Amino acid sequence: MSRAAETVLPTPPDVLRHTFDAMSVGVIVLGRDLRINVWNRWVESRSGIAESEAIGRGLDALFPDLANSYFMSAVHGALNGGYPSVLAPSLHAPVFPFFAVPGVDTERMRQQIHVVPLGGASGCLVQVIDANAAWQRESTLKRKHLLLEESLELQERLLQQLEGNKAELQRQVRERTAQLEELAGHVQDLSEHERAQLARELHDELGALMTAIRIDVARLNSQSETTTERHQRALKNIDQAIQIKRRIMEGMRPTLLNNFGVVVAIRELAREKAAVNTWRFGIDLPDEEMPISEQLSITLYRVCQEALTNAAKYAEATEVRLSLRLENDFLVLEIMDNGVGMSPVREGRRGGHGISGMQHRVLARGGTLEIGPASPQGTRVVARIPYQARSESARDRSLREDEAN
Ligand SMILES: Nc1ncnc2c1ncn2[C@@H]1O[C@H](COP(=O)(O)OP(=O)(O)OP(=O)(O)O)[C@@H](O)[C@H]1O
Ligand SMILES: [Mg+2]
Repeated sequence: MSRAAETVLPTPPDVLRHTFDAMSVGVIVLGRDLRINVWNRWVESRSGIAESEAIGRGLDALFPDLANSYFMSAVHGALNGGYPSVLAPSLHAPVFPFFAVPGVDTERMRQQIHVVPLGGASGCLVQVIDANAAWQRESTLKRKHLLLEESLELQERLLQQLEGNKAELQRQVRERTAQLEELAGHVQDLSEHERAQLARELHDELGALMTAIRIDVARLNSQSETTTERHQRALKNIDQAIQIKRRIMEGMRPTLLNNFGVVVAIRELAREKAAVNTWRFGIDLPDEEMPISEQLSITLYRVCQEALTNAAKYAEATEVRLSLRLENDFLVLEIMDNGVGMSPVREGRRGGHGISGMQHRVLARGGTLEIGPASPQGTRVVARIPYQARSESARDRSLREDEAN
């Protein structure tokens, strides 16, 4: 058999041609010399080149642009080496020009090409399969993925923004709270100062005046031979007025607190309350000489006063214990009763100012106040306030100097 005869592929019988035409993939059969032997209807319609025009012509002559393409290497591989190839559609590779689909954007068009050697490499079969559907699926997925990524990014940004806003709001709330606490502390200090001043004036001015009146009236009484009922009444009224003045003064600034310090004042206060309420009373206080600044003394005293008043008003207790001790640079004041305890309703009750007043006073001294159940029953109030002996006595000294000026 001559070499030319070997390379010529037989014309396919009609039945085979009809089969090729009915297929929904492109079928091209090439001879060894690249001459086109089969050009099915699919290829005809996609390339716009009629079968009659293509048959017998060389593929390289029909499409010179394909000369150095992967496709031509695959064809030579099949014809000369006898091995098949599959050219996968790549999202970015250009589309074979002769397989463009009318009405379909060639940029978005993808095909898979199989090149298979035939009859002992005397020719090759080229099969072209639309991979568009698969590609579209892939690109839809990719689009969805991109959208998802975008929305995740957006969500992340929004979350960051929200976090930023939250942090800013928290900062503002902290700042406002600190300002209000400072203000509350200042108002309390001011009111204590005014009370002390008023108490002093009551003592110095009114007190002196009333004592003088009493002495005069008493003298008048003793000078007259007949002790009239009117004199007696006047004296009694004066004594009563002096008592009232004393009570008002005590309420404003206990003299014991002023003259003997907070430890003595608390002991006396506790003794009085225990007697009035018939409590068993346990008390544990530090040395009376312990230096405690005036401001801290007032805070401790007022917390004791309010906690004991509350215990008297609500607790129905039989026993109350009070202690003031130094614990690692903190003064710890603890007042405990064995009464009914604070019910959640009571704790949440609005309207009373006693507890919030205690809280403000303690906060203003840089401390903390806890109010909760006592064990096994009752209520426990604990105030912890920073304390440094040296600065406390120095503060008192400077306060005394201020007062003197
Ligand atoms: N030791 C206690 N035992 C039982 N309940 C208490 C005790 N201390 C406080 N409470 C409850 O807590 C509530 C709030 O107390 P708070 O001192 O703030 O207000 P108040 O005493 O009612 O009013 P105010 O002190 O302004 O005169 C009280 O009404 C009471 O129900
Ligand atoms: Mg109260």
